[in-house]
Amino acid sequence: MGQVCQSFKSLMQLQLQDEKLPPLLSSFDMEGIAGYIAEKGCKQVVVMCGAGISTSAGIPDFRTPGTGLYDNLQRFNLPRAESIFELKFFRKTPQAFYELVRELWPGNYEPTPAHYFLRLLNEKGILRRCYTQNIDSLEGRAGLPAEKLVAAHGNFDEAHVIDTWPEIKVPVHELKRALDAGEEGWKELKKAKGGLVKPKIVFFGEALPDRFNRLHMTDLAACDLLIVMGTSLVVYPFAGLVGVANKSAPRLLINRDQAGTCDTLESGFRFHLQGEDNWRDVFHKDDCDAGCRTLAEHLGWKDDLEALIQSEGRVSVCNAPWV
Ligand code: OAD
Repeated sequence: MGQVCQSFKSLMQLQLQDEKLPPLLSSFDMEGIAGYIAEKGCKQVVVMCGAGISTSAGIPDFRTPGTGLYDNLQRFNLPRAESIFELKFFRKTPQAFYELVRELWPGNYEPTPAHYFLRLLNEKGILRRCYTQNIDSLEGRAGLPAEKLVAAHGNFDEAHVIDTWPEIKVPVHELKRALDAGEEGWKELKKAKGGLVKPKIVFFGEALPDRFNRLHMTDLAACDLLIVMGTSLVVYPFAGLVGVANKSAPRLLINRDQAGTCDTLESGFRFHLQGEDNWRDVFHKDDCDAGCRTLAEHLGWKDDLEALIQSEGRVSVCNAPWV
């Protein structure tokens, strides 16, 4: 057994050695990333983001101990926190998810500086695509065009009757109106449509949208820089995109904590490894808003970013405990 492990380890080391490239950055920090963007003339930046880009808008993330959504669902009496996004539980107890959905419904929150930074990347002509796990649609609200966004876990743009094939679509305003009318409202809608209606938010075990499946391999193969922000990178297949990114593209993580390293994620980040074992990965430990502002400053775009935020006049100012 020990020998098998040893051979496997050697094989892995060999593969990792094969993968190594000369350093892609002059320094493994924001300055190095900004220099790379300017010198290489990046035009195919891919961004992956998660709940951490929206916490300063007042929307909690999922897994931060204490303040994350999964630590604050006691009122729903769930078998486990993730059940709120499981069809099996939803079929039996829809009320819990419906209450949560009412709180998270778009329109209640405004974009953050990190969302405006996404728009700025696009307006500078260097954003190929933004993949978001967030269902809050704040990227679009900040002005990012729909063709630049992949809402990998769905959102509130559409609604459908669960367990139907072919799928029965329901105009999302009908669901909103039903939920606003409380328990009676959604029960009536269920009767009228022949089943429970839910927004097209991806539940655990459900397939990701076609748009994700159609685009991600070509986008990640073409990308010349990957920026990952505000995510714990524990949910698949989304987390796996980090490992698919073109090998010669630097990868930047802006987050409060390290996430998605190669210890846990196949071909994950290598910023925690020393010397030549890391030729392309940068971890910038910071809040997403501050991290985006730092990168904008290094790129000479500080004023552009602030002007964009000011011109929209719709940036969130939140004093919630998770900010
Ligand atoms: P998580 O809550 O798992 O991770 C959020 C990450 O962002 C954590 O590493 C936080 O430390 C970090 N963070 C929080 N606020 C931040 C801030 N202001 N600046 C920088 N970092 C910050 O959220 P996701 O990774 O998005 O899936 O979760 C992924 C998926 O899990 C969600 O899409 C959802 C959930 O189950 C579905 O609902 C299908």
